[in-house]
Amino acid sequence: MTQALKLTPNVENGKKIYPLCASCHMKNGWGKPDGSFPVIAGQHRNVLIKQLSDIRSKNRDNPTMYPFTDPGSIGGMQGVSDVTAYIATMAKDPKPGIGNGKALDSGKSIYQKRCQQCHGDQGQGNNDAFFPSLKGQHHAYLYRQLQWIRDGYRKNANAVMVEQVKALSDEELEAVADYLSRL
Ligand code: HEC
Ligand code: HEC
Repeated sequence: MTQALKLTPNVENGKKIYPLCASCHMKNGWGKPDGSFPVIAGQHRNVLIKQLSDIRSKNRDNPTMYPFTDPGSIGGMQGVSDVTAYIATMAKDPKPGIGNGKALDSGKSIYQKRCQQCHGDQGQGNNDAFFPSLKGQHHAYLYRQLQWIRDGYRKNANAVMVEQVKALSDEELEAVADYLSRL
């Protein structure tokens, strides 16, 4: 599926394919504030393609979405290229689900010390390096992913990141997720 990275995307065609994704990620790509479905709007295209590919190859457990990662059902490699390009142009959720706000200072200092070298000083990520944008993602989704990364349930997690996340308690993960959801 990563072959899709090399194709020239057609955003208009991607827009026509996107309704396949909208039943879960919603029409605007904002998912749900309870974190059951993540915000995908405005995510980097390379990151979107890599995640679809990892879900497809079962390198990332996501049984609900597995059928929607079949290139055959989303218009072949060109369809994957197009739909991810469209999603990358969508505006991010201005009001994602947030945490309780009690430990934002601690969340910020953990982020600056352990995360920003990859995810960027504003949580913006990096398309070329396949680092996801994390800003404005739902707190509950971030918190769940961080627990899965720490506890080894997310198989595709970057090894250097796992080292950084392993040391953190549930409270610290909640704090850093809260900080990121508000950026
Ligand atoms: C039946 C529901 C469903 C449909 C339809 C669906 N998804 Fe998902 N998707 C999910 C769930 C649930 C997750 C989060 C899983 C988790 O918590 O790890 C997810 C996660 C993702 C992620 C990873 C997000 C991240 O931040 O790492 C991407 C990318 C994605 N979906 C893209 C798509 C695209 C593109 C389509 C349409 C072709 C689509 N999804 C259709 C349920 C769905
Ligand atoms: C060495 C670089 C690096 C560091 C340091 C790092 N990350 Fe990551 N992070 C990544 C990469 C690469 C991915 C995507 C992994 C993949 O392909 O699934 C990722 C994925 C994530 C995800 C999942 C995003 C999604 O949309 O599903 C979260 C949440 C996350 N990182 C948070 C953090 C936090 C919080 C820290 C600091 C405690 C951190 N990361 C440190 C590189 C890093």
